[in-house]
Amino acid sequence: AGPKPLSGQRLVVTAGGTVERIDPVRYITNDSSGKMGFAIAEAARDRGAEVTLICGKTEAPVPNGVLVVKVDSAIQMHDEVMKRLPDADIVVKAAAVADYRPLHRAEHKMKKTSESLTLELVRNPDILQAVGEWKSGQPLKDKPFVVGFAAETTDVEKHAMDKLNRKKCDLIVANDITEAGAGFGTETNIVTVYGAEGPVEQLPQMIKRAVAERLMDIVLSRMNRGKEQ
Ligand code: PMT
Repeated sequence: AGPKPLSGQRLVVTAGGTVERIDPVRYITNDSSGKMGFAIAEAARDRGAEVTLICGKTEAPVPNGVLVVKVDSAIQMHDEVMKRLPDADIVVKAAAVADYRPLHRAEHKMKKTSESLTLELVRNPDILQAVGEWKSGQPLKDKPFVVGFAAETTDVEKHAMDKLNRKKCDLIVANDITEAGAGFGTETNIVTVYGAEGPVEQLPQMIKRAVAERLMDIVLSRMNRGKEQ
């Protein structure tokens, strides 16, 4: 067998949900299991890529043969992603990042003192957007190929294309998380992949590993196309 299609390529993938602490025992998170991001890590690893998997809170076992970096919060995930960008050839953001975090993190377990409690939340950094902005300032040869995800409940194409343009990604993988067999926690996903020109491919319900394989095919063909230009 010849060299694998992604050998020599470095891929950074994020998976799972971020954890935004309220106090030492309580936090805000979401239902991401990490399965989608793990499937991408495995598909890229098996194609010869050197994979760094940056993962938040996950349920599935982490894959072998990849460098695993565990993080808690969106800020930590942001820092771990950003410091690897200069060495990355491909970045895939499959994690579900909390858009907000508690303004204050209590040092000690909070006591119940009143009948109601208001938690003030502040915006988290948008990691994918930060990646897109970093990329804009790089010479063509140093720009990584960037894939975002979009978890949508309505107007999937409109929101996906808006995210692709705003966050300056090369591809957006949209899942309608209201469909059975798609999105958070499931073994399968149902996705449509969008590029700058609009929909690229609409995939039927498939196990997440098969979605990841197809996504890698699309990424490879677009990266090669980029080199020919
Ligand atoms: O982990 P699983 O259980 O397998 O579930 C898979 C999944 C549903 C989590 C995955 O397929 C998915 O859709 N991931 C993205 C979920 C999400 O946060 O989507 P979003 O539409 O809110 O964000 C759009 C993109 O911006 C995503 O690539 C996200 O990683 C990124 N983002 C969002 C907010 C933020 N503060 N920083 C980000 O980088």
